[in-house]
Amino acid sequence: MLTKKSRIKDVYANPIGRDIIDRVLLQMNISKKAVTNPIVGNLKLKVLPKLPKSQLDEGFLDTLLTLLNTEHEAAKGNDEAILKAWWKEAVFYQIYPRSFKDSNGDGIGDLQGIISKLDYIKELGIDAIWLSPIYDSPNDDNGYDIRDYHKIMAEFGTMEDFDRLLTEVHNRDMRLIMDLVVNHTSDEHMWYQKAIHEPDSKYGDYYIFKDQPNNWTSFFSGSAWNYVEERGQYALHLFSKKQMDLNWENETLRHEIHDMVKWWLEKGVDGFRLDVINYISKRSGLPDGNESIGKLMEYHGVEHYFYGPRLHEYLHDMKEKVFIPYNAFSVGETPGTGMEMSKLLTADYRKELDMVFSFDHLETPGHTRFDDYQYDLNYLKSYMINWMENYGNHCQPSLFYENHDNPRMISKINSDRHYRNVLGKLLAVIQLTLRGTPFIYQGQEIGMINQNFRSTSDLRDVESLNLYDELCNTMNKEEAFAKILAGSRDHARTPMQWNNQQYAGFSTGKPWIMMDEDYKNCNVEAQLQDENSILRFFQKLIALRKEHRVIYYGEVLFINQKEKDLFTYYRKDGTETLYIEMNLSSSNKKRAKYPEGIRLLSNYAEDSSSFLRPYEASIWKYN
Ligand code: NOJ
Repeated sequence: MLTKKSRIKDVYANPIGRDIIDRVLLQMNISKKAVTNPIVGNLKLKVLPKLPKSQLDEGFLDTLLTLLNTEHEAAKGNDEAILKAWWKEAVFYQIYPRSFKDSNGDGIGDLQGIISKLDYIKELGIDAIWLSPIYDSPNDDNGYDIRDYHKIMAEFGTMEDFDRLLTEVHNRDMRLIMDLVVNHTSDEHMWYQKAIHEPDSKYGDYYIFKDQPNNWTSFFSGSAWNYVEERGQYALHLFSKKQMDLNWENETLRHEIHDMVKWWLEKGVDGFRLDVINYISKRSGLPDGNESIGKLMEYHGVEHYFYGPRLHEYLHDMKEKVFIPYNAFSVGETPGTGMEMSKLLTADYRKELDMVFSFDHLETPGHTRFDDYQYDLNYLKSYMINWMENYGNHCQPSLFYENHDNPRMISKINSDRHYRNVLGKLLAVIQLTLRGTPFIYQGQEIGMINQNFRSTSDLRDVESLNLYDELCNTMNKEEAFAKILAGSRDHARTPMQWNNQQYAGFSTGKPWIMMDEDYKNCNVEAQLQDENSILRFFQKLIALRKEHRVIYYGEVLFINQKEKDLFTYYRKDGTETLYIEMNLSSSNKKRAKYPEGIRLLSNYAEDSSSFLRPYEASIWKYN
C-alpha cells in the first residue's frame, strides 16, 4: 500500500504509478530522467506540494494514492511465446461511413457506397474493416450519439443494406467489426427519455443523475452536467450535451447492453471497437476532480473515471458472457491509459479486451492536438521502441496514426508537398513492419492531408465549434480559428478522394462537408495508374507483410537507438531476417552501415550508397 510517506521511486515502481508519472512528464515535456534520478526518486510524496514552484495541492496526493491503491495487480512477465490469432495477422481498414462513398447523391456516404468499394478494399490487401457508427442517431456527434442500437441511420441506408454489406464482406473473405458506443447514448435514446419522464421505471437509474453537479468538465467544452428540469437534477455528459453517460453500476443496464451486443453478433459481425471504453466505471460518489490535475490534463474529473474502480470487472464480465461465446474480437479505445494499464486491459490470460488504442504517440511531449507545431518523428521512434520492447508477448500492440478524431499525420510532420509521397510511404513502412496490428484510416493509403478550411462555416464538428466559442472568450476570432484549425477532427472527415471529377467521385451531390482542390491531384484513380504512388506502395507493402510472416510474430531488434533521425531494426525468427532502415528527417542522413542482402521494397527507386535520402525507408531481406 502506498502512502504519503512512500517515495517517488516506489510510485514509479508501481505499474499504474509509472503510467501516471509518464503521462504527466509527457504533458509537461519533462524527461523521464527527472524521475529516475536518485535524488528525486528518494523524495517522499508528501514533500511534493511543498516544493518551490510546485503547482500541486494536498488533494493531489490523496487522489493519486486512491488511484494507485485501487489497482492490486501487475501484468505478468514475458516468458511465453506469442499466442497466434487471426487479428494479430490482419490489417484493418477504418471506414468513416459519412465520408467514404455516397451511392444516392445526397452528399452523405452510405452503406451501398461502401459495398461498391469492397473490391477496392480487398485489392488493397485488407483483412478486416472497422465501421465507425452506422446506428440511428440525431448526429450531434456524427453517430457517436446513438438513438437506437438496433436501427441503421436513415442517411446510411437500411438493415437490409447492412445485411448485404456483411455478406459481401464475408464473401470476400474479410471480417467486419462495428463501433460500440456504450459509455453514453443520445439524449434522444428511448432509455434516456424514459429515465427523465418515468424516473421510477427501471430506466430511472440507467444514466448518471445528481442533485448538484460536481466540477467535471466535458471534452467538448464547458461543464459536464445538464440541468434536467423533468427530474430537478443534473445529468452527466462527458461529451456533447446530447451524449448522456450511462450508469454502468446498474446491473440491468449492463445486461441490456450485453443483449444488444449479442444481437449484432448473432447477425455475424466479427467484433467491435469499443468507444472510450475505459470511461465506463466512475468512482462512486462522483467526487470533484482535483484542481491541479484538472489544470494539467485540461479537463476536470478525469482521474475519477479514466481507469475506474470497476473497469476490469465490467470488461471481464462482457468478455466472458458475450465476446468469448461468439469468438468475437474487441479493441478498446482507451484515451489516457499508458502501457501498464493497457497491459492489464489486454493481457491474453486476463480476458478483458483483445487490444487497445492508446494515444500517447499522436502528439510529441508538451503538445496537445490543438497546438500548431511540427511533429518530430524521433519521438515516434522512441515511443515505438518502448512499446515493442516492453509491452510483452501476452499483449498485442495496435499500430495507427490516423482515425476520424485526428488531423492527417503527413500534415503534422511536414506540410511541404515535395515530401508527401516519400513521407506517406515511410509512415506505412513503420506501421506495417513493426509487431502489432495495423489500422489504416480511409484516405491514409493515398496520403490524404489536412484541408484548407477557410472559416468556421466550413467546419462541422461539434468539438471544434464548441471549442471555438469557448476560445473566443479569451482571444480574438482569428487566433481562435487558427487554434481550431491545427487540431480539428474535420481534417480527417472530408470525403474520400476517389477521382478528379466533381466532388472527387465521392458523390454526385454537394458533400455534407467541404473539400478543397486536393483531389484533383491526389485520388485513388490516379494512384492506381501510377506504379510510384502511395497507394501502390501500400498494396505492395501489405502483400510483403503477408509473405514474410516474421513480421507477425518475429522478434524486433532495434539498432542505432541513440542515433537521431535514423530508425533501424531487424525482424527475426528461426527462418528469416528482415532489416528495416529509415531516415526520419528531410535531410540526407549517413547510413550506419550498408545493408547486406536484397532490397525488397523502398520509397526510392534506386538505392544510394553511403547515405539515406529524405524520409528514405527500405526493407531488406538478409540471407
Ligand atoms: C471517441 C470517438 O472516436 C469520438 O469520435 C467521439 O466523439 C467520442 N468518443 C464520443 O463518443
